[in-house]
Amino acid sequence: MIIGSNILFFKDLPSTNSHASHLLKNNRLAEGTIIRTNYQSAGKGYAGNSWESEDGKNLLISILLYPSFVKPTDQFCISMAICLGICDFIRRFIPDCSIKWPNDIYINNDKIAGILIENTIIADHIEYSIAGIGLNINQDKFISSAPNPVSLTQITGKTYDLSACLSELSKDFDIRYKQLIAGNTEPVRKEYISKLYRLNEWSRFKDANSVFTGRILTVGDYGTLIIENQDLEIRGYAFKEVEFIL
Ligand code: BTN
Repeated sequence: MIIGSNILFFKDLPSTNSHASHLLKNNRLAEGTIIRTNYQSAGKGYAGNSWESEDGKNLLISILLYPSFVKPTDQFCISMAICLGICDFIRRFIPDCSIKWPNDIYINNDKIAGILIENTIIADHIEYSIAGIGLNINQDKFISSAPNPVSLTQITGKTYDLSACLSELSKDFDIRYKQLIAGNTEPVRKEYISKLYRLNEWSRFKDANSVFTGRILTVGDYGTLIIENQDLEIRGYAFKEVEFIL
């Protein structure tokens, strides 16, 4: 296994992503090393948000990768593989989940996992990638202002062993990462698109100009979200250029 053969556990940390990057300053950690903690005092979310997670209840991890075979322009394939790995894990317990572009994992209309991938690009290659994942497992109440968090326990009513979950999740990531290594990015892309939240459904979005009704057609090069509006105009959006109205 590449992912998960080396797990470094810390009782608490400011953030597993920040700690991974700190460790990398002095050591070359093995590829696939997982930094795990029970509690983050400064958990980082997407777009400068924070990430809520009660002490000891959920999986908070960062995976260190050296995806030298991925061109910086194709870096979105790492997000796609990580999203699919989480979906593979969730399917062990719940029949279905979806991916809210670019990389939130949803059960119906609620968010069960968030991903923050930080790539360090030097010249024309990815030097390393820190894939941070917050996966809600046993938390039964959320107090932050996040609109729609949910956990596995809230859906199934069961409690889970976090270390056993991590061991299954690592296997799922490992399979997906090996698909990328083998050059099978097209099947990864197709599966990612097929699992998109609101794919082909008319729904509300907001861009820099207005709130509009549109439907997601696909994901284009560089991970742009391709949306058709009601005037049948088709546009690609980069990260942060469009929001879903939930
Ligand atoms: C999001 O906003 O949806 C992304 C959330 C990512 C949270 C995880 S928790 C483990 C890792 N360490 C962090 O500080 N953030 C990520």
